[in-house]
Amino acid sequence: EDAAKVAAFEKRVAAEEKIEANDWMPAAYRKTLTRQISQHAHSEIVGMLPEGNWLTRAPTLRRKAALLAKVQDECGHGLYLYAAAETLGSSREELVDQMLSGKAKYSSIFNYPTLTWADIGAIGWLVDGAAIMNQIPLCRCSYGPYARAMIRVCKEESFHQRQGYEIMVTLSRGSVEQKAMAQNALDRWWWPCLMMFGPPDQQSSHGDQSTRWKIKRFSNDELRQKFIDATVPQAQYLGLKIPDADLKWNEQTQHWDYGAIDWQEFKDVLSGNGPCNRDRMAARRKAHDDGAWVRDAAVAYAQKQRSRRAA
Ligand code: ACO
Repeated sequence: EDAAKVAAFEKRVAAEEKIEANDWMPAAYRKTLTRQISQHAHSEIVGMLPEGNWLTRAPTLRRKAALLAKVQDECGHGLYLYAAAETLGSSREELVDQMLSGKAKYSSIFNYPTLTWADIGAIGWLVDGAAIMNQIPLCRCSYGPYARAMIRVCKEESFHQRQGYEIMVTLSRGSVEQKAMAQNALDRWWWPCLMMFGPPDQQSSHGDQSTRWKIKRFSNDELRQKFIDATVPQAQYLGLKIPDADLKWNEQTQHWDYGAIDWQEFKDVLSGNGPCNRDRMAARRKAHDDGAWVRDAAVAYAQKQRSRRAA
């Protein structure tokens, strides 16, 4: 690549200028952004499945309306993110195909099952809480279209987090059975949520370069720690116990120390062997196949309009 162009690009990034779709950028910057943004889009789309599972069984009309809105928001996030990824030159079709063929990743967290209604509370509180922690800094990402998409996404995520926490408040103040159900959901979701932030910094293959390019503003471990620090008092308020015997306030660092994460479980989930990987992929492939007639109809309609105009 032209060294002068690279230097000019790096200078712009250092000066906190936004890089826009038509600006010159190094091929590796384009590639890593396409990877991250498209994986993020796939996560939003696959993320509709675990919660969609409870739409027909929400306990009240109000809960159902809120959950329905949240799942629809996630679909919207997926669409803005595909659009942001497309500005980098790959088509949405190509990106979706990479996901359906198993080549592109989506977040590990969506490969866990939603066994009870309390899981809907725990997902909003913890999964969306972790998502906000990770995505607020992305509003300052050097790539303009991604940064701008993140602003609206974060506002909506914050509503999702509140609706989840409110479910947890209700359950933990409810009957003994309801409180036990809330505790059980926390027990199952806590460790997978910590894995959402990605591998430890030393094993993060893209971390350093993405930080230099101001795509990432905090490392995986920094965001994980921020999340734990913010979430522990919330669990205390609920009267629930975080399932980590080593969780301890560290007066010196002013952070919560936490126990070892089972990175083997993370690797298993990433390689397709989590509890729900096969179901999620099968559901996405079926939805894509079932939607083929809509895509075909849209293409046929566009062709008809074009030939009418030509006539
Ligand atoms: N689930 C699945 N894959 C993951 C996860 C995870 N939780 N964390 C890291 N990985 C993958 C990375 O994608 C990368 O794989 P690849 O090289 O095949 O792309 C590999 O593990 C190594 O990780 P890093 O080098 O640390 O990757 P990166 O610098 O991209 O950091 C992170 C990972 C923090 C997830 C980053 O990509 C990011 O901030 N993405 C945007 C947010 C996002 O995607 N959120 C989705 C969940 S939130 C939601 O949808 C509600």
